[in-house]
Amino acid sequence: YVSPSVRPQIISDYIGQQAVRDQLQLSISAAKMRGEHLDHVLLYGPPGLGKTTLSHIIAQEMGVTLRQTSGPVIEKPGDLAAILTRLEPHDVLFVDEIHRLSPIVEEVLYPAMEDFQIDIVIGDGPAAQSVKIDIPPFTLVGATTRAGLLTSPLRDRFGIVQRLEFYSVEELSQIIRRSANILGIESDDRGAIEIAKRSRGTPRIANRLLRRVRDYAQVKGNGIVTAEIADAALNLLEVDPLGLDKMDRRLLELLIHKFEGRPVGIDSISTALGEERGTIEDVIEPFLVQHGFLVRTPRGRVVTGHAYTHLGLENPEKELFE
Ligand code: ADE
Repeated sequence: YVSPSVRPQIISDYIGQQAVRDQLQLSISAAKMRGEHLDHVLLYGPPGLGKTTLSHIIAQEMGVTLRQTSGPVIEKPGDLAAILTRLEPHDVLFVDEIHRLSPIVEEVLYPAMEDFQIDIVIGDGPAAQSVKIDIPPFTLVGATTRAGLLTSPLRDRFGIVQRLEFYSVEELSQIIRRSANILGIESDDRGAIEIAKRSRGTPRIANRLLRRVRDYAQVKGNGIVTAEIADAALNLLEVDPLGLDKMDRRLLELLIHKFEGRPVGIDSISTALGEERGTIEDVIEPFLVQHGFLVRTPRGRVVTGHAYTHLGLENPEKELFE
């Protein structure tokens, strides 16, 4: 038995990211009318918001094959050349974590993206020759957590740049209902909303929590995902009522207790938490900033009054505002 995929395959099954969907759909329709490849697409935003899913849907809508790879696995220029020369016209090449391409590999990508040509060196020593070879026109779909991680020559070669946003509770609860249907999980509206509220605005987390709540419902309940079952299951998983997990709370508590609410640099936070800087910046912080638990200032990260209140702590600066 293989669990069926909850990932939407067609654009009409994709929930949320309305602006991104509308703009992509328009460009896809136009490209198809002209009989051309779609312009290169850069998708950026926090993990789990559907960048990979969108690349599948773009290929599907264009009626072409999707080739999937990622920045760190393309080690040598020849690895990328091998992929590019094997593409069919108008194919979609998805490069996840595109900011992690090595500079020499990135060099190969520039003429490939711009002129659909690659430079290949034949032979070595004084006899070495550089020859240009044509590759089929294709669409590069690049994904990264932050557009700012790309070099500007690479970023400038994408004609379509889209930022994915966190999902609303309403959108997430629709996604959860859809996934529950596909997986054969019985849930009621309030159950789906409870999971949605606690999913950090992220479909990947919503789908993971749905499976964990199902486990709980099977063992402790009658198999139905209700609000009460979801609440009990998520409490057990240490996901709090606003969706903050243990790591989120560790970060906020560190700033409050160890640094006493003063601005703190990212490297000090990284050392104190024993967590990579990139993970803190790209995975943990965006949600905390979006929901007003944390602000980024030029002098460092600062917790807000909202964070104190949420953690049930007295805000020492409260009287200053009163
Ligand atoms: N599953 C994961 N992301 C989704 C989305 N945006 N729409 C529908 N199902 C999803």
